[in-house]
Formats: sequence, structure tokens, C-alpha cells
Amino acid sequence: MTENLGFVHRFVPAGDESAPALLLLHGTGGDENDLLSVGRMLDERAALLSPRGRVLEHGMPRFFRRLAEGVFDEEDLRERTHELAEFVEAAVNEYGIDPRRLFAVGFSNGANIAASLLLLHPGLLAGAVLLRAMTPFEPETTPDLSGTPVYLAAGRSDPIVPAENTERLAELLQEAGAEVTLDWQPGGHGIGPAEIEAARDWLTNAVARMS
Ligand code: MLT
Repeated sequence: MTENLGFVHRFVPAGDESAPALLLLHGTGGDENDLLSVGRMLDERAALLSPRGRVLEHGMPRFFRRLAEGVFDEEDLRERTHELAEFVEAAVNEYGIDPRRLFAVGFSNGANIAASLLLLHPGLLAGAVLLRAMTPFEPETTPDLSGTPVYLAAGRSDPIVPAENTERLAELLQEAGAEVTLDWQPGGHGIGPAEIEAARDWLTNAVARMS
């Protein structure tokens, strides 16, 4: 655990040069340790870069403020997205990460800021695995995400993310040119082994196409 580069974070170097780097973004109440095992399940050789969200909601770390569940403080969200992008750029230099192999892996609040990173900083990430993401905001201009692969896993009975909100995010990303795989899972907001396995296969494929 280190505190430099503006975020408390963990970095685990890659097992070999061809491995991807995963930017792990936890959900509300999580921290930099939360998704390390998910990252390992997705790719056992991947470099892992895992920051802790800097906003506290009743003591629970998050990546941006919200006004209520599913209602975001858009100004804060945009500001925090820029802050996170700066951290990612600094970490890419500090740790020698190849940005062409850098994939975000976000869950819930972490997936929402990952979606925001895609929309506000196209080109920063090679792709993203978004687990239970929502539409972060409606962008004024459509970013250029041509060919960026995005795996979007949603829960059919998710009490936090309405189905039409997920559909809208998929649509926004597709309009921007991203290659979206929308995977509807039978469960709720929690993630299960089936989608981790599906995300792993998807990631292996996406990384192979980058090489
Ligand atoms: C959010 O605030 O980002 C979403 O409501 C998901 C959550 O963190 O519960």
C-alpha cells in the first residue's frame, strides 16, 4: 500500500511483458484490496493497479459523491474523474505500464467512474470490464471510442441499476464507437462466478486482439 501519486493504492507488477494491466475500481465501502482477487481471477499474470476512492460517505470510500442512491453529484463526478485520470497517467509513468494494455475493471461505484473515464478521457484506457455500471451522465459531445472493447455485465434483478439505465450506457458507448458486449446475468447487484468467468474469456480475447 502506497500513498503517493495522489491516491492510496496498491500496485502489483505484471507476470510477463505481454500481460495486461488492470485498473481495479472498487464499489462503495470497498478499498484498494477489494478487487485484487477478482483481478487475479481475470488474468493471473496481469499487473494490478488498485486505488482507493477518495470520497467518504459515512466512512465508506467511494470514487465520487452522490446525492442519493443512483443520483450522482455530477460536478463532483466530473472533477473526480479528471483526478483519477491524472493518477492513472502518473501511475503509467511511475510503474512503466503499457497504456495499450490498460483495462479498467470496475464494480458498482467503481464501474460508474470507469464509464465516466471512458466518456471524458477516451484513449486513456484500452478497454473496460464494467460490472453493474450505470450511465454516469449524458455527455454534451460524443467521445471517440472507436474500437474500444467494453464488457458490460448487468443483473436482471438489480435493485440499484434499472435495466433502461444499463441499456442507455450501452447505447452511449456504442454511439461513441466502442465494441460493447452487454451480458445480462440472472442475479442482482452482486457479482457471481459465472460472469467472472465470462469476463475472463472476454478479456483474454480483447488482450489477444491488442497484440
Ligand atoms: C453509485 O453511487 O455509484 C451507485 O449507486 C452504486 C453504488 O455505489 O451503490
